[in-house]
Amino acid sequence: MTKDQDRVVIFDTTLRDGEQSPGATMSHAEKLEIAGLLDEMGVDIIEAGFPIASEGDFQAVSEISKQAKSAVICGLARANFKDIDRCWEAVKHAKAPRIHTFIGTSPLHRAIPNLNKDEMADRIHETVSHARNLCDNVQWSPMDATRTEDDYLCRVVEIAIKAGATTINIPDTVGYTAPRESAALIAMLLEKVPGADEIIFATHCHNDLGMATANSLAAVEAGARQIECTINGLGERAGNTALEEVVMALKVRNDIMPYQTGIDATKIMNISRRVASVAGFPVQFNKAIVGKNAFAHESGIHQDGMLKNAETFEIMRPEDVGLTETNIVMGKHSGRAALRSKLADLGFDLGDNQLKDVFVRFKALADQKKEIYDEDLIALMQTGEDVEDHIQLKALKVSCGMDLEKSADMTLVIGGEEHAVRATGDGPVDAAFVAVKSLFPHEAKLQLYQVHAVTKGTDAQATVSVRLEEHGKIATGQSADVDTVVASVKAYINALNRLVIRREKSGPDVAEVSYKDVS
Ligand code: KIV
Ligand code: ZN
Repeated sequence: MTKDQDRVVIFDTTLRDGEQSPGATMSHAEKLEIAGLLDEMGVDIIEAGFPIASEGDFQAVSEISKQAKSAVICGLARANFKDIDRCWEAVKHAKAPRIHTFIGTSPLHRAIPNLNKDEMADRIHETVSHARNLCDNVQWSPMDATRTEDDYLCRVVEIAIKAGATTINIPDTVGYTAPRESAALIAMLLEKVPGADEIIFATHCHNDLGMATANSLAAVEAGARQIECTINGLGERAGNTALEEVVMALKVRNDIMPYQTGIDATKIMNISRRVASVAGFPVQFNKAIVGKNAFAHESGIHQDGMLKNAETFEIMRPEDVGLTETNIVMGKHSGRAALRSKLADLGFDLGDNQLKDVFVRFKALADQKKEIYDEDLIALMQTGEDVEDHIQLKALKVSCGMDLEKSADMTLVIGGEEHAVRATGDGPVDAAFVAVKSLFPHEAKLQLYQVHAVTKGTDAQATVSVRLEEHGKIATGQSADVDTVVASVKAYINALNRLVIRREKSGPDVAEVSYKDVS
């Protein structure tokens, strides 16, 4: 990647740092789909995963490398040859591969592998040189850079540059830094480190204090030319810098931040909704850019101003991020073409196969509900079912009411085989969950069960979120249906299917073992 003074490179790590977020597991097919959307929207570099973490991660990074059209595909590797070799095996299929290797350099992080400063410096030289022998495009990160001593940070950055790193990423791993410091750190490195002007500095911020976007932009103003971010700010704890926020901030405030990205911002809503759906992380209503209320004006004064001149209260238009409001209500007579165009207006660009599948679900919904609103379609797009799911709901009949035993008759298809049971419980949802557990025994504990009505009216669909925890692994499931019990069971099954994927991911996790096994 050549250095252009006005161009900010967008490095998306939704599939790596984002997926590391507890409960955000994505299936193989979902990862491929999200990577395709990132590529299409103009993301420069996709960090597709951590290939040594599991066979699943390795396969996902390899496949994404093969399918990528224009994005650089990057894989993560700790500071050891085994990780780096495995990473290269996965990314080498890409037209433009990148190896990203890292080690924690702050005093706290140095203590874990028990390396002194000199030993760590040697390790950095060896591993970056090894990566560079395999790949021309190497990124190196001193993890917890913002809490590393300035002189040591300058020393190790210089070593990594000399060993062949082409991008140096400066992570604020624990979201501790403030905008002024974020800028000062990049300025210091550019000033003090020999060879710093030959490489690209990246900024990688976490949002623990809600400053990730501000810190990333401050770093750019000081000379960083790569922003690392995720869709919807997905990521561990409070998440990473949100792609949509930095991209739109650079667009809307280009007067004071005259930098360009290659992102087609009109694709933002579509990918935001897909990531929310596949990761099982709904976007908060008041989230900047992509929240349901981001463009909603409820107060009388605002509405009046908006009707006279949209610029009164709007600094960007909904359509700039791919959100087109229409008042057309869909119903059971609406055809496939109308559905496609309506979904496109809502920011969902569907391929033929996906449309076919959504159309079947749309018709089923239209049979149960006379008028289908935008919110219904969004909920329909965010249900987590997939034909390849290990567990599928085939039939459900519940009995409930006053002075009646609450029971559920259920048939599930598990790994292709049908199993049926009758279970009882404290209520219809409880009975249905007991039935699921007896058909698919598991030790997962229910951590969250949440129900929302999608629209007004008693025929409204219910969206249900379920979060399960099993031996420290978390999975979130979502579903929507006009029948609350059906939606609940589907959300529960969706979470279980994600847990099955998470169980298969038995290898190391960056968060768990990033410092160990460095030899
Ligand atoms: O936050 C962090 O330090 C990371 C590194 C692995 C780059 O995600
Ligand atoms: Zn991170």
